[in-house]
Formats: sequence, C-alpha cells, structure tokens
Amino acid sequence: MPFPEYRPRRLRKNEALRKLIRETSLSVSDLIQPYFVCYGKGVKREIEAMPGIYQLSLDNLVKEAQEVEKLGISAVILFGIPAKKDEAASEAYDENGIIQQAVRELKANTKDLLIITDLCLCEYTSHGHCGVVQDKEVDNDLTLELLAKTAVAQAEAGADIVAPSDMMDGRVAAIRAALDENGFNDTPIMSYAAKQASALYGPFREAAESTPQFGDRRSYQMDPANVSEALREVALDIEEGADIVMVKPAISCLDIIRDVKMNFGYPTAAYSVSGEYSMIKAAALKGWIEEKRVVLEILTGIKRAGADIIITYYAKAAAKWLKTED
Ligand code: PBG
Ligand code: ZN
Repeated sequence: MPFPEYRPRRLRKNEALRKLIRETSLSVSDLIQPYFVCYGKGVKREIEAMPGIYQLSLDNLVKEAQEVEKLGISAVILFGIPAKKDEAASEAYDENGIIQQAVRELKANTKDLLIITDLCLCEYTSHGHCGVVQDKEVDNDLTLELLAKTAVAQAEAGADIVAPSDMMDGRVAAIRAALDENGFNDTPIMSYAAKQASALYGPFREAAESTPQFGDRRSYQMDPANVSEALREVALDIEEGADIVMVKPAISCLDIIRDVKMNFGYPTAAYSVSGEYSMIKAAALKGWIEEKRVVLEILTGIKRAGADIIITYYAKAAAKWLKTED
C-alpha cells in the first residue's frame, strides 16, 4: 500500500508508539565487561588510550565486579598482566598465576556473576605472540598443549567459561579434551571463532602489555577481508565443541555477525574491541558526539546484526544508562 494510504510516520509520532513497535532491545544481561588484572594493592592505573578503563589489582577488581553485578551485568572477562613473561608463558597455567588468583577471589566475593577467562598466551610470553615461537614462527601444535594446560588451570580456579582467543588451528578440540579429561565436562567454551588481525586492537595491547616484539599476528588471525573463511572458522570451532562463538571486532564485522547467527543459530557473541571504545571515547571527550546516544545506538546495531552477547568496555556505563532509560 503506497502513500498516501501508508504513512510510516504514523507510528513514529510519540515515544509510546515508537516503543510499541521497536524491533531490537538491548538488555543489561547481554553485556560483558572486560577487566585487566595486575598485581599490587590499591592499583587503579588508567590506560592512556582508553580513558575510563584501568589495570586493576585484585582488591579493586573485586569492588568493580561487585558493582557491575549489582547493575545486572551477567559476566566479566579477565585479562592478566603477569609478574614475569617467558618463552613458555609459564604464568598462564601456573595455579597461582594472576588470572587464577583473580578467578578465586571473584568467585569467593560475588554471587551469580559469570567469570570468563580469556585464554591466550600473548600476555605471558616474552615475545608477545599468542603461541610458542620456534624459528620466528608461531608453532601451532606446540601451542595447543599450553593452551590446554591453561584451560585446565583456569577451570580449576573456578572459571565459569573459558574463552580461547589465540586463533591456533584445532585449539577448541584440544581444550575440550583437556577439560573433559580433568572432570570439567560442564565448563563451556566461548571461542573467538572469527577473529580478525585488526588494527583496532592497538589500545588493548597497551592495556594488556602484549604487543608482539617482532612481526604481527597475521599468520594466525584472520584477514579482515574474508567472510566465507570466517564462516569456515566458525563451523570448525562448533565441530570441535565450542558452545558460544564470537566474532571480533564488532562494528567493522556486522555482516559476519549476521551470517554467523543465520548460518549456525548458535549463541553468538560480538567483541566491540578496544579501538572501538577509544574512537568513541575520544570523540566524546572532544564534545563532538553525544556519548550515551552513540554508544547505545552502536550496541543496539550490533545486537540487531545478530549478536546475543556483546563484550564491550562500555558495559558498565551502558548498564547505568539503560537503567535510567525508562
Ligand atoms: C589476546 C586478545 C586480544 C584481544 C582479546 N584477546 C589482543 C590481540 O589479539 O592482539 C583484543 C581485545 C581488544 O582490542 O579489546 N589474544
Ligand atoms: Zn593472544
């Protein structure tokens, strides 16, 4: 029915009508807040390229987690800054490694908050790569053993979900097998399934102190130009036992998020990465954009594309904004 019979503006007349026909709703329980955990007491060190985001020592991390749990956020994801880095990424799987300590503290001091552990080696290796380096190359199969060990250490500490972000081939199967062998059949895997080699991770590497000391990550992370390959990556991870699949970054990958949700119907997460946060925050601090409206609009767009879950440095802020929306 064309104009003048059909007038789409009829349903835009006031907020009550607009709300009535709204197709996508963003909920606090969709959001995951990332944290960077470091040693020390009372540490709250702001990341230069991410104003409002900090490296936190365990005491401050617990306070933060209690706050976000109160706000209705379902989960946090943890990244660790170890005491020392070495070739074998030892602290990643040490039972007293920074992340294992953080998980135990959080499990003891929160109620239903899900504690997700990022599972990778780059924060713990002296060279900053996500795997074991041999002759200047990241060796896939040697890395799998260390990832599997790390998954078990994280699960033993009490992690509710482990989230491998390394992009080695076969790692979901290796991690699933190791978890099962150690009695953690019920620990879900949220795999960074389609993770691009993106320039948008720049600020994260300052935050996690994980910049590769030579070369880059393009021999293991995906070419951002590829979508069929992204779907193959997701299919493989599902076959290997992933329970939740993730696409990363988010705002440059809305088509991939859509295709992943449509093709597999799996719980789908999108990671709105550090560079996405920094770009919005910088423009907001300059007074060039309205931070709250821009953030809620972008998060709603990511959800509309097909994401069930959104990992975002804006989770806590968005939770507060959503509470005052109606
Ligand atoms: C570790 C990891 C990275 C991110 C999540 N897990 C960095 C990287 O791969 O270089 C990026 C997150 C962000 O930019 O917010 N493998
Ligand atoms: Zn990594």
